This record gives sequence, structure tokens and C-alpha cells, in this order.
Amino acid sequence: MWRRVASLSSLISSSNSSFHGQVPAACRLTIWESLTTGIAQQAKGVSKEKTPFITFVLGGPGSGKGTQCIKIVETFGFTHLSAGDLLRQEIASNSADGAMILNTIKEGRIVPSEVTVKLIQKEMESNDNHKFLIDGFPRSEENRIAFERIIGAEPNIVLFFDCPEEEMVKRVLNRNQGRVDDNIDTVRKRLKVFEALNLPVINYYSQRGKLYTINAVGTVDEIFEQVLPVFTASEDQEVSAKELRKSSWGKANRS
Ligand code: ADP
Ligand code: C5P
Ligand code: MG
Repeated sequence: MWRRVASLSSLISSSNSSFHGQVPAACRLTIWESLTTGIAQQAKGVSKEKTPFITFVLGGPGSGKGTQCIKIVETFGFTHLSAGDLLRQEIASNSADGAMILNTIKEGRIVPSEVTVKLIQKEMESNDNHKFLIDGFPRSEENRIAFERIIGAEPNIVLFFDCPEEEMVKRVLNRNQGRVDDNIDTVRKRLKVFEALNLPVINYYSQRGKLYTINAVGTVDEIFEQVLPVFTASEDQEVSAKELRKSSWGKANRS
């Protein structure tokens, strides 16, 4: 029997889970600062003319990350990089790491961070867009630290799709995409790994005021209604930052 986790938010300290369409002042400041003072500096591992705007998309297996990413891309023009999809492409291309990745995915464990970050880095470098939705990453503290070390950047926003376990299990078992890991045994393992390794990452971003917790139960459109204001606010701030940089005040105050 699956243990019902009514809301994982209770395990997470001080998240922005209760903003209900309003982005809290602390977070507006984070976005503002990252755009104006260069906190999210030019990523050292990704050469781009524009500072990348990075969103990490987190949540357990079947919480609806991929589904919501499609809608975010349509509405806000991000480039969607699913870590799981990149790993599955490596398997399909028979690369040197393919067999190791396949075994790791079958076991529901986490692929060594260096492998995953290098795949993400390649995609970021070869893409003209500067706005990235990185889905299913970081899955562990090791993932997070490897990204910071190799890419040299932090996310501007972290979305967390909070979904009860029994709902996630139901969705994964109905997914029907022929995935080797969408079976009851592997799902059990993935849920354990999620709780042990991903919740600490979610907590980390919560403490840094970057986390937006979305209630992932409801229709796809109802869930997207909660996602919309997070990005609308960040777009507003991006426009304001651009205007500020162009203005004489911005020029006079730039070091
Ligand atoms: P994740 O990327 O988090 O593993 P997906 O987006 O692939 O999750 O969704 C898992 C399954 O659940 C898919 O079959 C998808 O169509 C379905 N799904 C996604 N969002 C919802 C929702 N809000 N309600 C019911 N089913 C959903
Ligand atoms: O996100 P998705 O459900 O597609 O991930 C499928 C599997 O890919 C995970 O269960 C894990 O084995 C592997 N993965 C990983 N590291 C990531 C993302 C996915 O090892 N950052
Ligand atoms: Mg997915």
C-alpha cells in the first residue's frame, strides 16, 4: 500500500508555496537582483551573449513536470531540456555511457552527475535561446553542485510540482510511453530516491528564496494557472531591468 503524502510542502522549510498568484517581495527582489547586479553571472561553462535565465523544474516521478514544461515553452518561449530525455537519447545513440545509463534508469538510481551536466551543457551551448527550463534536474545535491561547478550558474527560479505519491504512481503506470522504468517495482525505487536525494535540494532552494511550490493535483490547465504568475512576474522584472540599464540612471549607477 502506498503511503499518502498529502503535501510534501510540510517537509520543506519556508517555501513560497502560499503566494497564490502573487510573487512574494523577497522573490521579486531575487529576480530583480539577479538581473541587475549580475548574481546569476555569465555562466562560465556556457558561452552566450546574454546571461542565461535558468529555471529548474522539480517534482517526483509523474508529478507532471514534462506536461507543464510544454505549456511554459508555448507561453514564455523557453527552451525545454529534460535531463531524463537527454539520458534516454544517449541510450538510443549507443554512446559509450549508454549501457551504464540504461542500468541506472532501470534501477531508478541517479546517473553520475558529470555525465548529465555535460549533456545539459552541450544543449545550452548549441542553443541560441538564453531562457532554459531544465526539467528533472538537479535530482540530488551532487547534481546541484556539479551544475554550479561545470556551468558556473545558479537557477533564477525553481519550480516544485508537489504531488501525493498515490497520484504519481497512478500517472506513471498510465503513461504508456514504453519506458523501462514505468513499472511498479522501479516506481517504488524512484519514489524512495526522490525523497532521500531530491527533497534536500528542494529544501536548499526554499531556504534561498528561489522555490515556487505548485500544487500538482488538478487538471493540467488548473495547475498551469498557478505556474503563470511566476513567469509573468519574472518577465516584468526582465523588462524593468532592461529599461533601467538603458536609462541615464542605470548608466550613471553602473560600475
Ligand atoms: P513527469 O515529467 O513529472 O514524470 P509527466 O508530465 O510525464 O510527468 O506526466 C506523467 C503522466 O501523467 C503523463 O501520462 C501525463 O499525461 C499525465 N498527467 C500530467 N499532468 C496531469 C494532470 N494534471 N492530471 C492527470 N494526469 C496528468
Ligand atoms: O525525469 P525522468 O522521469 O525522465 O527521469 C528518468 C530517470 O532518469 C530517473 O529515474 C533517473 O534514473 C534518471 N535521471 C538521472 N538524473 C537526472 C534526471 C534523470 O539519473 N538528473
Ligand atoms: Mg518527465
